[in-house]
Amino acid sequence: MKKAAAAAAVLATLLLSSAVSPTAVSGQQPWTNQQTAANNPRLHKAYVALQALKRAITEDPRNLTRGWCGPDVCAYFGVYCAAAPDGDADTDTQTVAGLDLNHGDLAGTLPEELGLLADLALLHLNSNRFAGTLPDSLPALRLLHELDVSNNRLSGGFPRHVLCLPNLRYVDLRFNRLRGPVPPALFDKPLDAVFLNDNLFDFELPESLGNSPASVLVLANLRLRGCIPRSVARMADTLNELVC
Ligand SMILES: *[C@@H]1O[C@H](CO)[C@@H](O)[C@H](O)[C@H]1NC(C)=O
Repeated sequence: MKKAAAAAAVLATLLLSSAVSPTAVSGQQPWTNQQTAANNPRLHKAYVALQALKRAITEDPRNLTRGWCGPDVCAYFGVYCAAAPDGDADTDTQTVAGLDLNHGDLAGTLPEELGLLADLALLHLNSNRFAGTLPDSLPALRLLHELDVSNNRLSGGFPRHVLCLPNLRYVDLRFNRLRGPVPPALFDKPLDAVFLNDNLFDFELPESLGNSPASVLVLANLRLRGCIPRSVARMADTLNELVC
């Protein structure tokens, strides 16, 4: 029973996320005129962003981005389109809502053009070999809900951009080469899950830790100094898991 429910949930997710493909849901027409970068300005911006990402990828051993050609960005592997949240319901303006290249083994960097994916809600890039830093344009992703760049080769300081993303709820930076202090303001954000573990962050847990409404906070295998602040007691109602 449990398994069936889980399978149904997965199927629902797949159907939702693949609603861009007219063949995915037989008998249903997601839209009458197919929207591409050629006739939809949002998809054109996405096209510019995705082509820049493709150029910034230096190794793609699984050939995931080989098919990233032409204006039909919603058909690209790992790209998920959905109705624009601020779009006109009648015209069903499509936009890129998700980019999922998890476990892609892709090497390269993340270009500034990613900021053109203005309607992105999910950015899942875990288990790749992206190096360098997150692009400075990241705060342009006002709708970003989940940022998962875990298990890459990202370096530099804490990506302060995440502090500027108003809708971010899930941030997963674990298993990278990020170093230096973590800004205390991170714990003031309405984040539900925060994974910082297995980086080179070097900081003392701030008093603001207790402000975090997160249910999961993983701080293991860092260079933590000092003690767990008293304020952590305030988290008792929301926190399910604190791993230090
Ligand atoms: C990717 O494409 C190259 C060149 O055609 C090919 O040699 C290789 O086997 C492909 N890799 C996979 C995983 O399909």
